[in-house]
Amino acid sequence: MTAQIISGNELAKKIREDIAKRAAALAEKGVVPGLAVILVGNDPASTVYVRNKENASVKNGIRSIMERYPEDFTEEALLERIRVLNEDPSVHGILVQLPLPKHIDTRKVIDAIAPEKDMDCFSVFNTGMLMIGEPRIKPCTPFGVMKMLESVNYPIRGARAVIVGASNIVGKPMSMLLLQAGATVTICNSKTRDLGFQTRQADILIAASGVRHIIKADMVKPGAVVIDVGIGRGEDGKLYGDVDFENVKEVAGYISPVPGGVGPMTITMLLSNAVDAAEKAQKASQQ
Ligand code: GUN
Repeated sequence: MTAQIISGNELAKKIREDIAKRAAALAEKGVVPGLAVILVGNDPASTVYVRNKENASVKNGIRSIMERYPEDFTEEALLERIRVLNEDPSVHGILVQLPLPKHIDTRKVIDAIAPEKDMDCFSVFNTGMLMIGEPRIKPCTPFGVMKMLESVNYPIRGARAVIVGASNIVGKPMSMLLLQAGATVTICNSKTRDLGFQTRQADILIAASGVRHIIKADMVKPGAVVIDVGIGRGEDGKLYGDVDFENVKEVAGYISPVPGGVGPMTITMLLSNAVDAAEKAQKASQQ
């Protein structure tokens, strides 16, 4: 039987309708959610991501504060911009697009963002809160994946989840969200022996390695839910994920496509985090 497709496009559309309503309700109270996005340099992929974030913000009632700086922008100048945005009450969320140029200390920059404005949940503080099971902000991509699992009412409690990829942006925070939801979690990395043995145990398989089509049909347990976080462009110009979609869809119970899967969910959860932050700031100002 062919797997049910989990469409990130459709789910993102539904969630964005709710976000737009919440942003409009805030605007009526005089608070327009503000999201600052900082891009340093001219990395082509980052330029596209940032433009997509800006467009999605504006479409859903969030004010986008776009700051673009040249490749040779200094770390001190960037830290100063973050200090100013931290203090600005009309800015509820801040995102520094990664990667930053090599002369800038990424950790120092991310940790300079006020914790309540750290929309990516990349800071040491927010990562730690996530680790102890008390997240104040959820990291966008893993949060989007959880919404995709919830959208098909997949029973996470007690399920075996296997994550392929141990990055700080996806694999590690994903493991924390799944663990908190009651899954038994395995994180695989590039040194994992017999990857197929691990992935075949998975009721929930999250592919986030960045290796094109690393997940083949014979690596998937029949009926499993397979979420593909990978995205890369082939020489043919097409987008590819980590999962050999055409063959895996004949084995899996549920599968997310690339494109149109996790990608639109990541931006949606960024907008959700920005509106959450604005709601919290609005409530705090009433006390
Ligand atoms: N670069 C690649 N993915 C991301 C992301 O989710 N957030 C930021 N800030 N930079 C990225």
